[in-house]
Amino acid sequence: MSEKLRLGVNIDHVATVRNARGGAYPDPLRAAKLAEEAGADGITAHLREDRRHISDADIERLMDVLSVPLNFEMAATDEMQAIALLHKPHAVCIVPEKREERTTEGGLEVAREENKLAHFIAPLRDAGCRVSIFIAADRRQIEAAHRIGAQVIELHTGAYCDAHVEERFEDRDAELESLREMSAFAASLGLEVHAGHGLTYDTTGPVAAFPEVRELNIGHFLIGEAIFRGLRPAIEEMRGIMDAARA
Ligand code: PXP
Repeated sequence: MSEKLRLGVNIDHVATVRNARGGAYPDPLRAAKLAEEAGADGITAHLREDRRHISDADIERLMDVLSVPLNFEMAATDEMQAIALLHKPHAVCIVPEKREERTTEGGLEVAREENKLAHFIAPLRDAGCRVSIFIAADRRQIEAAHRIGAQVIELHTGAYCDAHVEERFEDRDAELESLREMSAFAASLGLEVHAGHGLTYDTTGPVAAFPEVRELNIGHFLIGEAIFRGLRPAIEEMRGIMDAARA
């Protein structure tokens, strides 16, 4: 059996539901504690520039109460860098952000902005954060992430998951094969490999089976599933799928 695969539960969309009405309910912190109890190895939260779900106060409270590591997702802006340096979370994941997008649609263009990103992540690394870069399964981007000094890459699984949902099975299999090859390539450079976006009970197993992948970050599906059966069983089933794929 290969090394245990970590599950990072993304709680952004608990905050989305809270913010639909204003006020404090449902509290993403409560979801984070429940996720910990259900077997999450980490909590992921994305502080967007427009604060559409997670708020600054949420990040502060998560840093105070979590017993598992916080993976702080953020865009490469000065404002976010200052917040990360204030809290020094275990991990910082740099993601592209466009105001008009509904979710993080693609990976970061590291190759095009290599110099800028190298300077951007250096203080985060110096502060002790593990820096992860969210990218497509693309050799050029992986090489660039390695060159700028990132310790981790997170591969965007959205194209693979979309192809599955839309029953484009040839495309799905081709996307999965790219993810497999690029996981191995990144690991061969010494990068730690994570993956996430759009994963469900149907799509997680094949990605979890890649021995180089060390962590999956999953949010929207788990929070949606929690509406029907509760957060704990939703997470426990995902954990079971990951462990079975790894066995
Ligand atoms: N990983 C990263 C870097 C993300 O930006 C997101 C979405 O915020 C996820 C994982 C989780 O994606 P989903 O909510 O679709 O599971």
